[in-house]
Amino acid sequence: MTSSPVSPLPLSSADSSADVVTRLRAAGCVFAEDEARLLTAAASDPAELAVLVGRRAAGEPLEHVLGWAEFCGHHYEVDPGVFVPRRRTEFLMWQAAARARELTGAAPGGRTVVVVDLCCGSGALGAALAAVLDRAELHAADIDPAAVRCARRNVAAAGGRVYQGDLFEALPAALRGRVDILLANVPYVPTGDIGLLPAEARLHEARLALDGGADGLDVLRRVAAGAVSWLAPGGHVLSEVSGRQAALAAGIVGEHGLTAQPIASAEWNSAVVVGTRGRGDCG
Ligand SMILES: C[S@@+](CC[C@H](N)C(=O)[O-])C[C@H]1O[C@@H](n2cnc3c(N)ncnc32)[C@H](O)[C@@H]1O
Repeated sequence: MTSSPVSPLPLSSADSSADVVTRLRAAGCVFAEDEARLLTAAASDPAELAVLVGRRAAGEPLEHVLGWAEFCGHHYEVDPGVFVPRRRTEFLMWQAAARARELTGAAPGGRTVVVVDLCCGSGALGAALAAVLDRAELHAADIDPAAVRCARRNVAAAGGRVYQGDLFEALPAALRGRVDILLANVPYVPTGDIGLLPAEARLHEARLALDGGADGLDVLRRVAAGAVSWLAPGGHVLSEVSGRQAALAAGIVGEHGLTAQPIASAEWNSAVVVGTRGRGDCG
Protein backbone atom coordinates (compact mmCIF):
# COMPACT_ATOMS: atom_id res chain seq x y z
CA MET A 1 0.00 0.00 0.00
CA THR A 2 1.03 3.62 -0.35
CA SER A 3 1.41 6.26 2.34
CA SER A 4 -1.03 9.15 2.21
CA PRO A 5 -2.03 12.02 4.47
CA VAL A 6 -4.95 11.13 6.71
CA SER A 7 -8.02 13.23 7.28
CA PRO A 8 -10.57 12.36 9.96
CA LEU A 9 -13.56 10.46 8.61
CA PRO A 10 -16.84 10.07 10.48
CA LEU A 11 -17.42 6.36 10.92
CA SER A 12 -20.44 6.27 13.13
CA SER A 13 -23.12 6.08 10.46
CA ALA A 14 -24.91 2.92 9.33
CA ASP A 15 -22.73 2.74 6.22
CA SER A 16 -19.49 2.86 8.25
CA SER A 17 -18.18 -0.49 6.97
CA ALA A 18 -18.47 0.77 3.39
CA ASP A 19 -16.70 3.95 4.48
CA VAL A 20 -13.86 1.94 5.95
CA VAL A 21 -13.45 -0.12 2.79
CA THR A 22 -13.49 3.01 0.63
CA ARG A 23 -10.94 4.72 2.84
CA LEU A 24 -8.60 1.72 2.85
CA ARG A 25 -8.95 1.17 -0.87
CA ALA A 26 -8.19 4.83 -1.55
CA ALA A 27 -5.04 4.46 0.57
CA GLY A 28 -3.90 1.55 -1.63
CA CYS A 29 -4.85 -1.45 0.53
CA VAL A 30 -5.26 -4.37 -1.87
CA PHE A 31 -7.31 -6.45 0.56
CA ALA A 32 -9.47 -3.57 1.75
CA GLU A 33 -12.56 -5.69 2.60
CA ASP A 34 -10.57 -8.17 4.69
CA GLU A 35 -8.70 -5.41 6.46
CA ALA A 36 -11.90 -3.49 7.12
CA ARG A 37 -13.38 -6.56 8.77
CA LEU A 38 -10.33 -7.06 11.00
CA LEU A 39 -10.07 -3.40 11.98
CA THR A 40 -13.78 -3.22 12.72
CA ALA A 41 -13.54 -6.29 14.94
CA ALA A 42 -10.53 -4.79 16.76
CA ALA A 43 -12.20 -1.46 17.55
CA SER A 44 -14.46 -1.12 20.58
CA ASP A 45 -16.28 1.94 19.23
CA PRO A 46 -16.47 4.16 16.11
CA ALA A 47 -13.92 6.62 17.51
CA GLU A 48 -11.35 3.87 17.99
CA LEU A 49 -12.16 2.48 14.55
CA ALA A 50 -11.46 5.88 13.01
CA VAL A 51 -8.05 5.94 14.72
CA LEU A 52 -7.16 2.43 13.55
CA VAL A 53 -8.27 3.10 9.98
CA GLY A 54 -6.34 6.36 9.99
CA ARG A 55 -3.14 4.61 11.08
CA ARG A 56 -3.57 1.93 8.44
CA ALA A 57 -4.38 4.47 5.73
CA ALA A 58 -1.22 6.36 6.71
CA GLY A 59 0.84 3.28 5.88
CA GLU A 60 1.38 1.41 9.16
CA PRO A 61 1.50 -2.36 8.71
CA LEU A 62 -1.88 -3.94 9.42
CA GLU A 63 -0.28 -6.15 12.09
CA HIS A 64 1.05 -3.15 14.02
CA VAL A 65 -2.35 -1.49 13.90
CA LEU A 66 -4.14 -4.65 15.06
CA GLY A 67 -1.42 -5.50 17.58
CA TRP A 68 -1.12 -9.07 16.38
CA ALA A 69 0.02 -11.19 13.44
CA GLU A 70 -1.14 -14.62 12.35
CA PHE A 71 1.68 -17.15 12.18
CA CYS A 72 1.30 -20.92 11.81
CA GLY A 73 -2.38 -20.65 12.72
CA HIS A 74 -1.85 -18.66 15.94
CA HIS A 75 -2.15 -14.98 16.75
CA TYR A 76 1.02 -13.48 18.21
CA GLU A 77 1.31 -9.96 19.61
CA VAL A 78 3.41 -7.56 17.52
CA ASP A 79 4.24 -4.11 18.89
CA PRO A 80 4.93 -1.06 16.69
CA GLY A 81 8.51 -1.15 15.39
CA VAL A 82 8.90 -4.88 15.96
CA PHE A 83 9.49 -7.11 12.91
CA VAL A 84 6.21 -8.60 11.65
CA PRO A 85 6.57 -12.40 11.31
CA ARG A 86 6.25 -13.29 7.62
CA ARG A 87 4.13 -16.08 6.24
CA ARG A 88 7.10 -17.45 4.26
CA THR A 89 8.91 -18.06 7.58
CA GLU A 90 6.32 -20.75 8.31
CA PHE A 91 8.42 -22.89 5.93
CA LEU A 92 11.38 -22.56 8.33
CA MET A 93 9.12 -23.44 11.26
CA TRP A 94 7.90 -26.65 9.61
CA GLN A 95 11.45 -27.62 8.60
CA ALA A 96 12.50 -27.15 12.22
CA ALA A 97 9.51 -29.14 13.49
CA ALA A 98 10.35 -32.09 11.21
CA ARG A 99 13.95 -32.15 12.48
CA ALA A 100 12.89 -31.81 16.10
CA ARG A 101 10.58 -34.81 15.72
CA GLU A 102 13.41 -36.85 14.16
CA LEU A 103 15.58 -36.04 17.18
CA THR A 104 12.98 -37.20 19.68
CA GLY A 105 12.71 -40.48 17.74
CA ALA A 106 10.64 -43.22 19.31
CA ALA A 107 10.83 -41.92 22.89
CA PRO A 108 7.37 -42.34 24.45
CA GLY A 109 5.65 -38.96 24.27
CA GLY A 110 8.89 -37.58 22.81
CA ARG A 111 11.80 -36.31 24.88
CA THR A 112 12.07 -32.61 25.66
CA VAL A 113 13.53 -30.66 22.73
CA VAL A 114 15.73 -27.69 23.64
CA VAL A 115 14.82 -24.83 21.29
CA VAL A 116 16.56 -21.46 21.03
CA ASP A 117 15.01 -18.69 18.94
CA LEU A 118 17.93 -16.32 18.31
CA CYS A 119 17.03 -12.91 16.82
CA CYS A 120 13.51 -13.72 17.97
CA GLY A 121 11.73 -10.43 17.16
CA SER A 122 8.16 -10.95 18.40
CA GLY A 123 9.04 -14.51 19.44
CA ALA A 124 6.39 -15.98 17.13
CA LEU A 125 8.76 -18.45 15.46
CA GLY A 126 9.93 -20.16 18.63
CA ALA A 127 6.48 -20.06 20.20
CA ALA A 128 4.96 -21.67 17.11
CA LEU A 129 7.58 -24.42 17.15
CA ALA A 130 7.00 -25.10 20.85
CA ALA A 131 3.27 -25.31 20.12
CA VAL A 132 3.71 -28.22 17.68
CA LEU A 133 6.15 -30.23 19.81
CA ASP A 134 5.07 -32.56 22.60
CA ARG A 135 7.68 -31.17 24.99
CA ALA A 136 9.94 -28.19 24.40
CA GLU A 137 12.26 -26.10 26.55
CA LEU A 138 12.08 -22.72 24.80
CA HIS A 139 14.60 -19.88 25.05
CA ALA A 140 14.53 -16.75 22.90
CA ALA A 141 16.79 -13.70 22.57
CA ASP A 142 17.02 -10.42 20.70
CA ILE A 143 19.20 -7.33 20.91
CA ASP A 144 16.29 -4.87 20.52
CA PRO A 145 14.56 -4.01 23.82
CA ALA A 146 11.23 -3.42 22.04
CA ALA A 147 11.40 -6.90 20.49
CA VAL A 148 12.31 -8.43 23.85
CA ARG A 149 9.34 -6.76 25.59
CA CYS A 150 7.00 -8.06 22.89
CA ALA A 151 8.55 -11.54 22.77
CA ARG A 152 8.26 -11.89 26.56
CA ARG A 153 4.47 -11.91 26.22
CA ASN A 154 4.37 -14.39 23.33
CA VAL A 155 7.09 -16.66 24.65
CA ALA A 156 5.85 -16.67 28.25
CA ALA A 157 2.52 -17.93 26.93
CA ALA A 158 4.47 -20.83 25.41
CA GLY A 159 6.29 -21.48 28.70
CA GLY A 160 9.63 -20.06 27.54
CA ARG A 161 12.14 -17.39 28.60
CA VAL A 162 13.46 -14.35 26.71
CA TYR A 163 16.87 -12.68 27.11
CA GLN A 164 18.23 -9.43 25.71
CA GLY A 165 21.66 -9.14 24.11
CA ASP A 166 23.92 -9.62 21.12
CA LEU A 167 23.37 -13.08 19.59
CA PHE A 168 24.77 -15.90 21.80
CA GLU A 169 25.98 -13.44 24.48
CA ALA A 170 22.36 -13.17 25.61
CA LEU A 171 22.02 -16.89 26.37
CA PRO A 172 22.60 -18.62 29.71
CA ALA A 173 25.92 -20.49 29.62
CA ALA A 174 24.12 -23.65 30.75
CA LEU A 175 22.64 -23.96 27.25
CA ARG A 176 26.06 -24.44 25.65
CA GLY A 177 26.20 -27.80 23.87
CA ARG A 178 22.51 -28.54 24.69
CA VAL A 179 20.55 -26.82 21.91
CA ASP A 180 18.66 -29.25 19.68
CA ILE A 181 17.05 -26.64 17.41
CA LEU A 182 18.60 -23.20 16.92
CA LEU A 183 16.18 -20.97 15.02
CA ALA A 184 18.07 -18.00 13.61
CA ASN A 185 15.90 -15.92 11.35
CA VAL A 186 18.51 -13.18 11.23
CA PRO A 187 18.35 -9.95 9.19
CA TYR A 188 19.44 -10.83 5.65
CA VAL A 189 18.61 -7.89 3.38
CA PRO A 190 21.78 -6.51 1.73
CA THR A 191 22.32 -2.91 2.86
CA GLY A 192 22.06 -1.65 -0.71
CA ASP A 193 18.62 -3.25 -1.12
CA ILE A 194 17.01 -1.71 1.97
CA GLY A 195 15.75 1.22 -0.09
CA LEU A 196 13.93 -1.22 -2.39
CA LEU A 197 11.82 -2.71 0.43
CA PRO A 198 8.13 -1.84 0.69
CA ALA A 199 7.51 1.31 2.76
CA GLU A 200 5.77 -0.76 5.44
CA ALA A 201 9.06 -2.52 6.21
CA ARG A 202 11.39 0.41 5.54
CA LEU A 203 9.48 2.92 7.64
CA HIS A 204 7.86 0.79 10.32
CA GLU A 205 10.31 -2.00 11.14
CA ALA A 206 13.65 -1.45 12.87
CA ARG A 207 16.60 -1.18 10.49
CA LEU A 208 18.38 -3.62 12.80
CA ALA A 209 15.74 -6.22 11.95
CA LEU A 210 16.35 -5.96 8.21
CA ASP A 211 19.93 -4.95 7.41
CA GLY A 212 22.28 -7.89 6.98
CA GLY A 213 25.31 -5.92 5.77
CA ALA A 214 26.93 -5.68 2.34
CA ASP A 215 25.81 -9.09 1.03
CA GLY A 216 23.07 -9.58 3.63
CA LEU A 217 24.92 -12.41 5.37
CA ASP A 218 26.95 -10.64 8.07
CA VAL A 219 24.72 -11.75 10.96
CA LEU A 220 24.44 -15.27 9.54
CA ARG A 221 28.27 -15.45 9.48
CA ARG A 222 28.37 -14.67 13.21
CA VAL A 223 25.62 -17.18 13.97
CA ALA A 224 27.35 -19.88 11.92
CA ALA A 225 30.66 -19.23 13.71
CA GLY A 226 29.06 -19.66 17.14
CA ALA A 227 26.48 -22.36 16.45
CA VAL A 228 28.63 -25.48 16.77
CA SER A 229 29.50 -24.80 20.40
CA TRP A 230 25.84 -24.22 21.40
CA LEU A 231 24.27 -27.10 19.45
CA ALA A 232 23.88 -30.52 21.00
CA PRO A 233 25.37 -33.40 18.98
CA GLY A 234 22.94 -33.94 16.08
CA GLY A 235 21.36 -30.51 16.65
CA HIS A 236 20.39 -28.13 13.85
CA VAL A 237 20.59 -24.41 13.15
CA LEU A 238 18.05 -23.05 10.63
CA SER A 239 18.20 -19.66 8.92
CA GLU A 240 16.01 -18.11 6.25
CA VAL A 241 17.83 -16.47 3.33
CA SER A 242 16.86 -15.27 -0.13
CA GLY A 243 17.08 -17.73 -3.00
CA ARG A 244 20.03 -15.76 -4.40
CA GLN A 245 21.94 -16.08 -1.11
CA ALA A 246 21.28 -19.79 -0.51
CA ALA A 247 24.44 -21.28 -2.04
CA LEU A 248 26.75 -18.71 -0.43
CA ALA A 249 24.95 -19.07 2.92
CA ALA A 250 25.32 -22.86 2.81
CA GLY A 251 29.05 -22.41 2.12
CA ILE A 252 29.38 -20.12 5.16
CA VAL A 253 27.55 -22.58 7.43
CA GLY A 254 29.69 -25.45 6.09
CA GLU A 255 32.90 -23.58 6.96
CA HIS A 256 32.06 -23.71 10.65
CA GLY A 257 32.00 -27.42 11.41
CA LEU A 258 28.39 -28.03 10.39
CA THR A 259 26.91 -30.08 7.57
CA ALA A 260 25.03 -27.53 5.48
CA GLN A 261 21.87 -28.12 3.49
CA PRO A 262 20.09 -25.43 1.48
CA ILE A 263 16.36 -26.07 1.01
CA ALA A 264 13.97 -24.04 -1.12
CA SER A 265 10.19 -24.02 -1.37
CA ALA A 266 8.38 -22.53 -4.36
CA GLU A 267 5.08 -22.98 -2.49
CA TRP A 268 6.25 -20.79 0.41
CA ASN A 269 8.52 -18.60 -1.74
CA SER A 270 11.15 -19.27 0.88
CA ALA A 271 14.71 -20.57 1.22
CA VAL A 272 16.31 -21.96 4.34
CA VAL A 273 19.82 -23.11 5.16
CA VAL A 274 20.10 -25.90 7.71
CA GLY A 275 23.38 -26.58 9.50
CA THR A 276 23.71 -29.82 11.46
CA ARG A 277 26.29 -30.70 14.09
CA GLY A 278 27.65 -34.24 13.74
CA ARG A 279 26.67 -36.67 16.48
CA GLY A 280 30.29 -37.44 17.36
CA ASP A 281 31.56 -33.84 17.27
CA CYS A 282 33.18 -32.35 20.37
CA GLY A 283 31.89 -28.80 19.69
C1 LIG B 1 14.36 -10.58 10.43
S1 LIG B 1 13.94 -10.21 12.10
C2 LIG B 1 13.30 -11.81 12.55
C3 LIG B 1 12.44 -11.79 13.76
C4 LIG B 1 11.78 -13.14 14.08
N1 LIG B 1 12.76 -14.20 14.23
C5 LIG B 1 10.80 -13.53 13.03
O1 LIG B 1 11.03 -14.46 12.27
O2 LIG B 1 9.71 -12.90 12.96
C6 LIG B 1 15.56 -10.17 12.80
C7 LIG B 1 15.64 -9.88 14.30
O3 LIG B 1 17.05 -9.94 14.65
C8 LIG B 1 17.30 -9.00 15.68
N2 LIG B 1 18.76 -8.76 15.70
C9 LIG B 1 19.49 -8.09 14.79
N3 LIG B 1 20.79 -8.11 15.13
C10 LIG B 1 20.88 -8.83 16.29
C11 LIG B 1 21.96 -9.21 17.15
N4 LIG B 1 23.22 -8.86 16.88
N5 LIG B 1 21.68 -9.95 18.25
C12 LIG B 1 20.39 -10.32 18.53
N6 LIG B 1 19.33 -9.97 17.76
C13 LIG B 1 19.57 -9.25 16.66
C14 LIG B 1 16.45 -7.82 15.31
O4 LIG B 1 16.22 -6.99 16.43
C15 LIG B 1 15.18 -8.51 14.77
O5 LIG B 1 14.21 -8.66 15.79
